[in-house]
Amino acid sequence: MSTLHRVRVDLDVRSYDVVVGRGAIRELASVIPADVKRVALVTQTSLPIDVRAELPAEVTVSRHLIGDGEQHKSLATIERLGDEFAAAGITRNDVVVGVGGGMVTDVAGFAAASWHRGMRVVHVSTTLVGMIDAAIGGKTGVNIAAGKNLVGAFWQPAGVICDTAFLDTLPEREQRCGHGEMAKYHFLTGDDLLALDLDARVARCVKIKADIVGVDERESGRRAVLNYGHTLAHALEIATEFSMAHGEAVAIGMMFAAHLAQALGRIDAARVAQHRTVIADHYRLNIKPPKGVQRVELIELMHHDKKAVDGLTFVLDGPNGIETVRNVDIAAVHQALDALSVP
Ligand SMILES: NC(=O)c1ccc[n+]([C@@H]2O[C@H](COP(=O)([O-])OP(=O)(O)OC[C@H]3O[C@@H](n4cnc5c(N)ncnc54)[C@H](O)[C@@H]3O)[C@@H](O)[C@H]2O)c1
Ligand SMILES: [Zn+2]
Repeated sequence: MSTLHRVRVDLDVRSYDVVVGRGAIRELASVIPADVKRVALVTQTSLPIDVRAELPAEVTVSRHLIGDGEQHKSLATIERLGDEFAAAGITRNDVVVGVGGGMVTDVAGFAAASWHRGMRVVHVSTTLVGMIDAAIGGKTGVNIAAGKNLVGAFWQPAGVICDTAFLDTLPEREQRCGHGEMAKYHFLTGDDLLALDLDARVARCVKIKADIVGVDERESGRRAVLNYGHTLAHALEIATEFSMAHGEAVAIGMMFAAHLAQALGRIDAARVAQHRTVIADHYRLNIKPPKGVQRVELIELMHHDKKAVDGLTFVLDGPNGIETVRNVDIAAVHQALDALSVP
């Protein structure tokens, strides 16, 4: 059996462990708080994963199924879960266990944050995006008509399980999205992630995110570096009416950010080439925006990005590493879009 990695997310009284590796599910009982009597298991029927055998024998388990897809990440789902939790007699001293990708853990986390004004939650993440991003750091929430993730709470889990064996059944496009997000971590620190095997790499991504969350739990500064590549990515997602998936857009967004940083004299050609090596050569992600996307639209959308308080704002690489850069010169943005051949 392979060795498991245990990563600590250090947040004073809200600290917790993330167990990573093939077979990490056998550690599920170790992250369930000892005093719980009931487990509210929140998951999807479509998932080929059942963790019930790994729960402590003495707890009562109720199972709560949610739909598959962003339209089910809703207040209606939270309300239904509340009704079901009531019927199952779930109290504040019990625990929610969310089993699924980011969609499930975001919903399970928010249900836990709001049930009886807050109960504990454990995430069992089953997608690459979930393991290295969504399940770590305590952002929970649901979508409303006005936008994605607009209603939610910061609610740290009591523990997280990332069993990489679950990735064996992950559809190819979901793998790709995970790789888009994973490629990002290659640029956030000086660590050589290419030298690590999958389990060690997932654990290192978790550690990088944990360290960032540890210094900026509620995204008042440093946590913004996790949005590397995301300004153009969000614009691409909207411009393609979400036919482009988030991770696919992030891959292009990071390539854009590299060209932009170069145009601003922040990084050299070798560092841009390094981006191409990781994103295109290693992860085999597409780095060209889809045909039909117009730069006027992208620039307009980037102006409306939520980070853009002062003119055009980007998260960019540079001599001091990745940081937020405000009031970016539009001429440099055009140069970067030229490099990506955006008409
Ligand atoms: N809270 C955060 O910090 C954060 C960060 C990133 C993303 N998110 C959120 O996460 C969501 C995206 O998460 P996601 O990419 O994991 O998508 P997802 O949870 O929607 O899962 C994608 C698909 O894969 C299926 N699936 C999941 N695990 C599987 C497995 N092991 N085998 C086979 N199929 C499996 C799911 O049923 C679903 O159909 C979005 O709602 C996004 O807003 C949150
Ligand atoms: Zn992202």
